[in-house]
Amino acid sequence: PASFDILTSVSSLSVDDRSLQTQIDELALFSDAPAPSVTRVLYTDKDVSARRYIKNLMKLAGLSIREDAVGNIFGQWDGHETQLAGVATGSHIDAIPYSGKFDGVVGVLGAIEAINVLKRSGFKPKRSLEVVMFTSEEPTRFGISCLGSRLMAGSEALEKALQQTVDSQNVSFLDASRSAGYMRDHDDLSSVRMKKGSYSAFVELHIEQGPILEAEGVSIGIVTAIAAPASIKVDFEGNGGHAGAVLMPYRNDAGLAAAELALAVEEHVLETGSIDTVGTVGVIDLHPRAINSIPSKSHLEIDTRDIDEMRRNSVVEKIHQSAVAIAKKRSVILSGFEIVNQDPPALADETIIRAMEAASQQLNLTHRLMISRAYHDSLFMARVSPMGMIFIPCYKGYSHKPEEYASAEDIANGIKVLALTLAKLSLY
Ligand code: GLV
Ligand code: MN
Ligand code: MN
Ligand code: MN
Repeated sequence: PASFDILTSVSSLSVDDRSLQTQIDELALFSDAPAPSVTRVLYTDKDVSARRYIKNLMKLAGLSIREDAVGNIFGQWDGHETQLAGVATGSHIDAIPYSGKFDGVVGVLGAIEAINVLKRSGFKPKRSLEVVMFTSEEPTRFGISCLGSRLMAGSEALEKALQQTVDSQNVSFLDASRSAGYMRDHDDLSSVRMKKGSYSAFVELHIEQGPILEAEGVSIGIVTAIAAPASIKVDFEGNGGHAGAVLMPYRNDAGLAAAELALAVEEHVLETGSIDTVGTVGVIDLHPRAINSIPSKSHLEIDTRDIDEMRRNSVVEKIHQSAVAIAKKRSVILSGFEIVNQDPPALADETIIRAMEAASQQLNLTHRLMISRAYHDSLFMARVSPMGMIFIPCYKGYSHKPEEYASAEDIANGIKVLALTLAKLSLY
């Protein structure tokens, strides 16, 4: 039967890279930053337009579309055994401020194209295939990463927190989602949860966001594990005052406390002695932010990650101890120390890894196993379903900046591996 043909003769798998390139370029136009930068933040007008664009492509691919209460979007292609758990694939299209057009996007447009590839080849799935576009993988607006997939995996703590969460402009999560057409009156965040086993497999295609594949000239990265991310928000408060009149011995400068903590983060990360431990202070806000006023308040947002969860936790603990010690030394108040998330790492599933390896081999594509240092919705999908990820090379490993780039050929290779992997998993 046609279903099995593509498993032996992969020549029928052809990616329409012209259309795909057009889609990548068109999606990048939904941006609040000028090209080549992309800024697309959750529930903004640009995000809502981009969502409409994706739903249209899903419709053109013949998928039946469903959206949940927070705007995770699902496009389903029915298999001939709809009583079986389906196979899902997808990623995100939100983009952090001044980033590029490939992060996440390749895994959403690529997933829809993988379905088109399979349809054109004559393949008929046994298990249904589903494309998922996740809501807010990036933490930009409300400070929490992988918001959609985290809720899907079930987080009562997050469901509760989101009732109160506001963005930097004091717009609540609930109002923002309503304005984008979600969280209607009858909607409940708990409805986003998915039962474990809802999918038999979940596979995400993504650019590597690191330099290894390009440097080694390898076409496909097969992810074995995703590093454990944590993020922390810290607030200091001092008395502020006049930058000329308050003499140095009489100050308690909240800005300097922030500066000192930022350096302490670097120190604690380096102290582990492992190249796998990383830490970043991507946000420092000072109040009142005037050149002639001593900062009376400071706010830091700290990201730290490791492939070793215990070691990552010990860094978080040391950052806390430093925050307490710095506040004491500088006579400022540590008015906030919130661990926003402290997630364990996730392992990819052996069967999916083997399916991705076999697919790469059949397609004659060089491949290697690797870990993902960036986090992805797959980190949370691993709690719902066996998970796997396919990486493709990107220019110099650049990501989260406008220079981010992946070639049409590398993207097409990734889509073929995805399509063939989905086909295999659908027939299990
Ligand atoms: C995802 O964007 C990450 O920060 O790893
Ligand atoms: Mn990202
Ligand atoms: Mn991403
Ligand atoms: Mn990401």
